[in-house]
Amino acid sequence: MADKISVMISEEEIEKRVRELADQISKDYAGEEVLLICILKGSVFFTCELAKRLTIPVKLDFMSVSSYGDATVSSGRVKIIKDLDDSIEGKNVIVIEDIIDSGRTLAHLLAVLKVRQPKSIKLCTLLDKPSRREVEVKVDYVGVSIPDAFVVGYGLDYAQKYRNLPYIGVLELGKE
Ligand code: IMP
Ligand code: MG
Repeated sequence: MADKISVMISEEEIEKRVRELADQISKDYAGEEVLLICILKGSVFFTCELAKRLTIPVKLDFMSVSSYGDATVSSGRVKIIKDLDDSIEGKNVIVIEDIIDSGRTLAHLLAVLKVRQPKSIKLCTLLDKPSRREVEVKVDYVGVSIPDAFVVGYGLDYAQKYRNLPYIGVLELGKE
């Protein structure tokens, strides 16, 4: 049986929220330049759509991280697979994530980035699953808060699949 995916957030709804977030960010940083840090691979689609709608000067950089160890390791340490190309010292940084679940990845990543002395650092996520939080992280911009379900599309994957879906869908795995 094939996997079943039911639409949770339509393409139109995402587009509307991305526009609203971009307006808010453009207002908050009026007269400033921002550096968007796209966390690969999940936030690629979101980062591009958001960046296109910002009316302030924007620079982009990319980082790829993976969680260390397994679920029994509570440290929440992340391994940097690909680091940023440039220094963030003195810059207004906005970290762009696809989804915040336990919060462990972001909590560790923010700690790593703060050491590099940016002028400011904020966090923007397309999706948030607050009911799953294990570590507190201050999220400055949230697209949509969702209930506890495994979602795919708009950059989010299951085993590297479904990233290209233009909407956010709930995945129900098919049986072999
Ligand atoms: P955290 O450290 O638990 O917050 O992990 C967040 C990461 O887990 C995200 O960047 C995603 O890669 C992945 N993730 C969490 N929930 C989902 C989901 O529903 N679908 C796809 N990936 C998810
Ligand atoms: Mg991710």
